[in-house]
Amino acid sequence: MKTSAVLRILLVLATVGQFLWTAMASSYCKEMGSSTYRPHSVTVTEFGAVGDGVTLNTKAFQNAIFYLHSFADKGGAQLFVPAGKWLTGSFSLISHLTLSLDEDAVIIGSKDPADWPIIDPLPSYGRGRELPGARHQSLIHGSNLTDVIITGEHTLRMKFVPRLSINESGNGTVNGQGSVWWDWFRNNTLDYTRPHLIELMYSTGVVISNLTFTDSPFWAIHPVYCSQVLIQNVTILAPSDSPNTDGIDPDSSNNVCIEDCYINTGDDLIVIKSGWDEYGIAFAHPSSNISIRHIVGAAHSGAGIAIGSEMSGGISNVQVDGISLFDSLYGIRIKTSPGRGGYVKYIHISNVVMSSVKTAIGITGQYGEHPDDNYDPNTLPTIDMITIEDIVGTDINVAGFLQGIQGANFSNICLSNVDLSVNSKSPWNCSYIEGFSNSVSPESCEALKNPYQASLCYTTEHLEHCNLVQIL
Ligand SMILES: *[C@@H]1O[C@H](CO)[C@@H](O)[C@H](O)[C@H]1NC(C)=O
Ligand SMILES: *[C@@H]1O[C@H](CO)[C@@H](O)[C@H](O)[C@H]1NC(C)=O
Ligand SMILES: *[C@@H]1O[C@H](CO)[C@@H](O)[C@H](O)[C@H]1NC(C)=O
Ligand SMILES: *[C@@H]1O[C@H](CO)[C@@H](O)[C@H](O)[C@H]1NC(C)=O
Ligand SMILES: *[C@@H]1O[C@H](CO)[C@@H](O)[C@H](O)[C@H]1NC(C)=O
Ligand SMILES: *[C@@H]1O[C@H](CO)[C@@H](O)[C@H](O)[C@H]1NC(C)=O
Ligand SMILES: *[C@@H]1O[C@H](CO)[C@@H](O)[C@H](O)[C@H]1NC(C)=O
Ligand SMILES: *[C@@H]1O[C@H](CO)[C@@H](O)[C@H](O)[C@H]1NC(C)=O
Ligand SMILES: *[C@@H]1O[C@H](CO)[C@@H](O)[C@H](O)[C@H]1NC(C)=O
Repeated sequence: MKTSAVLRILLVLATVGQFLWTAMASSYCKEMGSSTYRPHSVTVTEFGAVGDGVTLNTKAFQNAIFYLHSFADKGGAQLFVPAGKWLTGSFSLISHLTLSLDEDAVIIGSKDPADWPIIDPLPSYGRGRELPGARHQSLIHGSNLTDVIITGEHTLRMKFVPRLSINESGNGTVNGQGSVWWDWFRNNTLDYTRPHLIELMYSTGVVISNLTFTDSPFWAIHPVYCSQVLIQNVTILAPSDSPNTDGIDPDSSNNVCIEDCYINTGDDLIVIKSGWDEYGIAFAHPSSNISIRHIVGAAHSGAGIAIGSEMSGGISNVQVDGISLFDSLYGIRIKTSPGRGGYVKYIHISNVVMSSVKTAIGITGQYGEHPDDNYDPNTLPTIDMITIEDIVGTDINVAGFLQGIQGANFSNICLSNVDLSVNSKSPWNCSYIEGFSNSVSPESCEALKNPYQASLCYTTEHLEHCNLVQIL
């Protein structure tokens, strides 16, 4: 069993406006199984798949994976998808499987909703996120799995240069053809909640790497009730006006590591969740030990890094470092509401560079949105020990809109070394919030003017590296 972490040196260059930001760092996401050798490999064409972009290949994917079941206890197997356009409906993965895409392979989601089966709602949501009742299954689905790798050949297209069009190549691509779903959503003709591109539930040892994901009907990548998840070197694209096309949503999951991604979508780039109101409280699956770093992108109608609004199972021990954002609605956002319960605590966010972002830091205790009327409005969330440091921003409208909840002040909110060039005359607006600050420009709101004290704030000394162990 190999447990050695491969130390890699990555030079990150980000040019945002007039700022040149250079960082050298070594990876702390261990390369969990990413080089796992599978003794058996098949190609999807051996099961009748046709890569013409027209033939529906759902059966071929399902049959290939069914065949590979018998290799699960023999070191696992690989399903290779060669160059071509592979139209398919939803299919489900198995344990000890590598789904590997050629650099010129594109898996294309069918535009027929009948090819996306209806499945039960998540217990921590109690219903579909958008509509009551069931929901469509993701294009690539998995439940109760261990040791799953979804990968492609991904030549370096993660350009650390904002505004560079990177849609030119799509090496190893999963394309959800989401525009039909966005139209159905907009004109209210859907019966069930829209599907994700990838959803893995109750799974351990998941790697998603070196792929491009485009036009997801809904959130692109959704690990829920998972642990030991590594998402690395992925590009996620969707039009800036596409509804709810979040990039990556770790949900009620622990030991999740996300790094080196370019995400440019219609909603949040990365958003951590843990269940919704009374359902999330009852299910009680927190998200913890989440590391996110080296993310570049634009969240045109969302946030670069968000937490919530579904956080009823609790969210803690989150480390975010090295984010470069442009053309976004929010930079960093925490969303909750009375009725959610749960907590968000021990959050450390550092080295964020923003340009053309409307609100650099947004914290709201009045997000609203409830699964039904059975939530208890007196069940208040706890927001505590949130540190945001080394933040630089240009062309910012509002520095911070920080609204806690009356009767449940958000506490130990710490800002350090924040330098934002802000257009608005009232850069900060704070209520029901308490905390500390050090070297903040423009000058922070009164509530945070107490001098920053390392003993009262969540600092780098508290951080523990993401605990991704080699489980294979
Ligand atoms: C991703 O691509 C890089 C560079 O081509 C390669 O070194 C690495 O092994 C790939 N990762 C996986 C999991 O295939
Ligand atoms: C998957 O795991 C969950 C949690 O352990 C369990 O409740 C569920 O029944 C399992 N599902 C299947 C299909 O085994
Ligand atoms: C990520 O991509 C870079 C550039 O292609 C490559 O050097 C690196 O090996 C990749 N990492 C992994 C884990 O695939
Ligand atoms: C990339 O996207 C831009 C804007 O959507 C478009 O004008 C351009 O044609 C695209 N390039 C390619 C190669 O698809
Ligand atoms: C993969 O990338 C190469 C180099 O960027 C490009 O020539 C090729 O067209 C890309 N493949 C696809 C399917 O976009
Ligand atoms: C809703 O949008 C879909 C996709 O564009 C279209 O086919 C359908 O006719 C629209 N329905 C209504 C009621 O507008
Ligand atoms: C702060 O925001 C609240 C809510 O939008 C608003 O009512 C209030 O006027 C704002 N305060 C300042 C000083 O701008
Ligand atoms: C809540 O915070 C406000 C400052 O925003 C402060 O005035 C108030 O005393 C705090 N309430 C409690 C109960 O600590
Ligand atoms: C989180 O990481 C710490 C430190 O590595 C570890 O002690 C703890 O058990 C982890 N928590 C979970 C839920 O895995």
